[in-house]
Amino acid sequence: MSAGEGTQASNLIGGEPVDSAGGERIDVVCPSDGAVFASIARSAAPDVDAAVASARRAFEDGPWSRMTATERGRILTRLGELVDANRDELAALESRDTGKPARQGVADVTAACRYYEYYGGAADKVHGSQIPFLDGYLAFTTREPHGVVAGIIPWNYPLQILARVAGAALAMGNTLVVKPAEDASLTTVRIAELALEAGCPPGVFNVVTGYGTEAGAPLSAHPGVDYVTFTGSTATGTAIQQAAAINNRGVTMELGGKSPQIVFADADLEAALPVVVNAIIQNGGQTCSAGSRVLIERPVYGAFTAELAKRFAALVAQPHYRDGDLGPLINRLQADRVAGFVAEAEAAGATVLARGSVAADAPEGGCYQAPVLFGDVDPQSKLAREEVFGPVLAAFAFDGEDEAVTLANGTEYGLVAGVWTSDGGRQHRVAKRIRAGQVYVNAYGAGGGIELPFGGFGKSGHGREKGFEALIDMSAAKTTVFNHG
Ligand code: NAI
Ligand code: MG
Repeated sequence: MSAGEGTQASNLIGGEPVDSAGGERIDVVCPSDGAVFASIARSAAPDVDAAVASARRAFEDGPWSRMTATERGRILTRLGELVDANRDELAALESRDTGKPARQGVADVTAACRYYEYYGGAADKVHGSQIPFLDGYLAFTTREPHGVVAGIIPWNYPLQILARVAGAALAMGNTLVVKPAEDASLTTVRIAELALEAGCPPGVFNVVTGYGTEAGAPLSAHPGVDYVTFTGSTATGTAIQQAAAINNRGVTMELGGKSPQIVFADADLEAALPVVVNAIIQNGGQTCSAGSRVLIERPVYGAFTAELAKRFAALVAQPHYRDGDLGPLINRLQADRVAGFVAEAEAAGATVLARGSVAADAPEGGCYQAPVLFGDVDPQSKLAREEVFGPVLAAFAFDGEDEAVTLANGTEYGLVAGVWTSDGGRQHRVAKRIRAGQVYVNAYGAGGGIELPFGGFGKSGHGREKGFEALIDMSAAKTTVFNHG
């Protein structure tokens, strides 16, 4: 029997599986063939109320807030071990639910384990500081949990994004209400069950599944929530910030990008090529940090795009179980959206340099999109400026460092960038001038790097996840002052 077949997933509130108050359910669809194979609870405001109340009780009264940071860390470390022990089941479930190639499901489980391990180890290493102040006074800071954290998770990397949110939030002593994406909730429910097994007290890690407007919106506007963290689209990010603003709550927003790879003529082009391709093909291009623009110095533009074109032409979208170059996109809507982007770019005069294919025997009901490489893209066009969230790469030619930086910084986003050059001085100059939360030199990290702080400038959002930095976001400084005379 295939992963998750027939699962009727419930919400997890106060450590108990519960159906939504309305009793309705949402079909769980595999995008490789469009088949329904399970269902999740369709929750709404009353379910959110129950989950927030449970998280509040666990925060105020429960053993969680009295536990030492070391003990919280041990529970997270155990959670990582349990995720590892259930690796095959989780990877298969994630692949089936999202359509991602089997090896990407495995990579996501590995990353999730690392997050729980990392934040488990970090939990008791977040120090405050003592501040020189007036004579006769002792002043110091401590890092306090926000309280109840709401995590609204997207469908592209549910295991990984949940792990970076839950790992950091729980390490700092917060309690959680998670609303996974309606398109991919099954592994989130499973992880919350494993968290109980790892020793998380009931009510610390609650899950409410459902649609964004029905379950996500009341969660982000809930007065019982102290902090909101979100990864997803810019438009939904705006809606969530407005909702959180009703209660003046803090937010972390990770909102995607239009990330450039800058290839100078003196770069090791052989080394750059597979990385540039992978950065847009991984997960079908449905990655916030996808390298969706490649800026190429004019003397090597022809040669580099010719090599890219060869590789793109050979790419084949396949059902997840074939573990091909890429899988289907998450759903019909996204596949149509991406196809619309491609058609519009062609109509606007961008040149198709290469097109990959969809496996001839891919199931009819799947949501496939062949990879496309565009050249001669107008920097002012929609394709050059907006996130496609699919396997579509736009190539541009540039002359010299200044133009490279202007083009790289020429969108409203600022998430990740790659700089490819063998000139040491230029590596530093260009990296410094790029406006992005992460810059890689002669490398690129699409989605990786548990230890590396991650987040955006501009429309890519604000706040930082991953690494130690996330622990700062998931807590607040408290200053205590003693007058000891
Ligand atoms: P979305 O941003 O609407 O969905 C992400 C999450 O937000 C889901 O859990 C959803 O249920 C929830 N949500 C939706 N509306 C909400 C609301 N009003 N209040 C609270 N929660 C809400 O993304 P969607 O529609 O699935 O994808 C559209 C585009 O978003 C993609 O084409 C892509 O450009 C971008 N996206 C970016 C991601 C990233 O990693 N930065 C991840 C997913 C999507
Ligand atoms: Mg699904």
